[in-house]
Amino acid sequence: MRIVLIGPPGAGKGTQASLMEEKYHIIHLSTGEILRREIQRKTTLGNQAKVFIDKGQLVPDKLLLELMEQRLRKPDCERGYLLDGFPRTIPQAIGLNNILRHLSTRLDLVISLTANEDELVNRLVLRGRNSGRSDDTPDVIRDRQKVYWEQTAPLLEFYREQGILHEVDGIGTINDVFSRIVEVMDALC
Ligand code: AP5
Ligand code: MG
Repeated sequence: MRIVLIGPPGAGKGTQASLMEEKYHIIHLSTGEILRREIQRKTTLGNQAKVFIDKGQLVPDKLLLELMEQRLRKPDCERGYLLDGFPRTIPQAIGLNNILRHLSTRLDLVISLTANEDELVNRLVLRGRNSGRSDDTPDVIRDRQKVYWEQTAPLLEFYREQGILHEVDGIGTINDVFSRIVEVMDALC
């Protein structure tokens, strides 16, 4: 299956994606993780991305589309994948649809994880105490939430119109949320 996880920063995309990877043996591709690895390695892409990530802004669409086009063409993606944090803008979603069309495939499911902003900020402030992430500071966390509502939330309507959007309540324990995702997955398989 080809699945996209959408949700504001702190909604639990990475946490739930890891559980899904384990249960369904599906590759988990997090663009945030990929970009942070590039930053660590001080590659050209990493250096370009760092400027945006540190401010809580999105890395330009062109860079993300080039990165993901290469990644999704790799043989390990032939049997499906779980995208965490991509696409994040309408141009990225259109670009992804084009990539998939060239590969004669399409998305099966988009899961939108929801949670209120106070809960999300609390989670990230807590995580920020030891995550080492440059964007886990209170000001940047608030900016990331704003960017989500301005640039990523319009994707919900985009995928709702395609009939593949499923909303999942992201509040509760990690296992509660995972059970809700499993229900959605089971209904599809
Ligand atoms: P990215 O790494 O994707 O970060 P994000 O979207 O801001 O989200 P997080 O990873 O912080 O949260 P999450 O939803 O994964 O939650 P998590 O499971 O970690 O992107 C970082 C940056 O990279 C972006 O700002 C941008 O600059 C750039 N970027 C990435 N992709 C891009 C793209 N496509 N285009 C352009 N730029 C891009 O959980 C959060 C915390 O909460 C954890 O501590 C966790 O343990 C805890 N938690 C999880 N679930 C629960 C629960 N149910 N109850 C209590 N605590 C919980
Ligand atoms: Mg994440």
